[in-house]
Amino acid sequence: MKVSNDIIYVGVNDHDIDLFEGQYEVPLGMAYNSYLIKDDKIAVMDSVDERFGDEWLGNIKEAAGGANVDYLVVQHMEPDHSANITLFMDAYPNATVVASSKAFTMLKNFYDNDYEDRRIVVGEGDTLELGKHELTFITAPMVHWPEVIMTYDKADKVLFTADGFGKFGANDVVDPEGWACEARRYYFGIVGKYGAQVQAVLKKAANLDIEVICPLHGPIINDNLEYYIDTYNTWSSYGVETKGVAIVYTSVYGHTKQAALELEESLKAKGCPRVVVVDLAREDMFETVEDAFRHDTLILATTTYNADIFPFMKTFIYHLLERGYKKRTIGFIENGSWAPAAAKVMRKLLDEAKEIDFLENTVSIKSALNDDSREQIDKLATEIMKNY
Ligand code: FEO
Repeated sequence: MKVSNDIIYVGVNDHDIDLFEGQYEVPLGMAYNSYLIKDDKIAVMDSVDERFGDEWLGNIKEAAGGANVDYLVVQHMEPDHSANITLFMDAYPNATVVASSKAFTMLKNFYDNDYEDRRIVVGEGDTLELGKHELTFITAPMVHWPEVIMTYDKADKVLFTADGFGKFGANDVVDPEGWACEARRYYFGIVGKYGAQVQAVLKKAANLDIEVICPLHGPIINDNLEYYIDTYNTWSSYGVETKGVAIVYTSVYGHTKQAALELEESLKAKGCPRVVVVDLAREDMFETVEDAFRHDTLILATTTYNADIFPFMKTFIYHLLERGYKKRTIGFIENGSWAPAAAKVMRKLLDEAKEIDFLENTVSIKSALNDDSREQIDKLATEIMKNY
């Protein structure tokens, strides 16, 4: 696959992975992208997951037409990209590794070799001449590790963005939901905490003339770039992507679920622009995390459990806080057969979230819905609708 006349895709698709980075389900598989730039000198951008070393080397050999490769640019040291550096350096004994200073420290820690005699350390604005192509390096700390660099090729107007603009899913399957759904789950799952750092890189990228974005996961972006950059800008600034309400619940015997569904019905009847309802015990946790970041309003509905809250809800709130959840409206539905306390517990947990408007109306159910709690649902829906 060609990115341009001189840039060739040499990455691989993974359909055997069970959990990406040890926790993310990837039903459409995963792609580990790598690119070869063919010029007077030949450079390869990043390696791939450990299990695909031979396939990757085969792709490089074919793309290079059997020629020697001069540079391996290491933009990111997480092992899904760095695991085959040693294999490559053994296969190309005259090659040089190009990476940030922090990346070389990680190379030593991971693979016991920092290639002291075969390396070029680069930082912000440094360049590497290949011939017609000159690569300019842009530091991108914490997108998503501290050593990350991105790389700009002025000749073909290509920005290599490391994990930035990445997406779950292999590149040889068509994602029926398009780009945004799995790119959003990837972004908030993996990079979500580092919005400020993504914003800093977007500001630097705004000064570049870019026609193609080459991420390390997911499809190459060469059309309608403005949409992708705007979307990343919204995500990384914790802006609202879609007006609407995410109702996230856990339910033991179905009564809390019933309250969530009745709130959904009431909101729809009042003309709410969008409502999604999620059963935390059964939906992918990170799909739900992205739903919370995507919409402006989040309703958390759960049972009181051992004087605390149901474990799935506790884990969910932990995932939100860990990713810097902020700038949203939150409301609560609690259930408890003898001493409902879930709303108070959730409110306290969310104290550390910044710029949150908590809704005044809370629904409190004692075991099952009755006229009283149904009236509370109606009041909560009315309060939510004031925002639309
Ligand atoms: Fe794709 Fe942060 O590794």
